[in-house]
Amino acid sequence: MFSFEGRQIPAEGELSIAAALVRSGEPAGLFCAIGVCFGCLVSVNAGPPERGCVTVAQEGDVVSRAI
Ligand code: FES
Repeated sequence: MFSFEGRQIPAEGELSIAAALVRSGEPAGLFCAIGVCFGCLVSVNAGPPERGCVTVAQEGDVVSRAI
């Protein structure tokens, strides 16, 4: 489970942040889903922008849109 802009998002196993968001009905900017287009940029724990489609969700992460 991680939080996305105040909402708790379930994420089990090695699910990417973008996949978990899409599964939960949140638009995640997912386009290529292989780390090429940068459409899915998110900030994790107030860090620099990361590609959500290739970043595995970690328990307790705080995620927000980076664009
Ligand atoms: S969807 Fe293209 S980089 Fe993530």
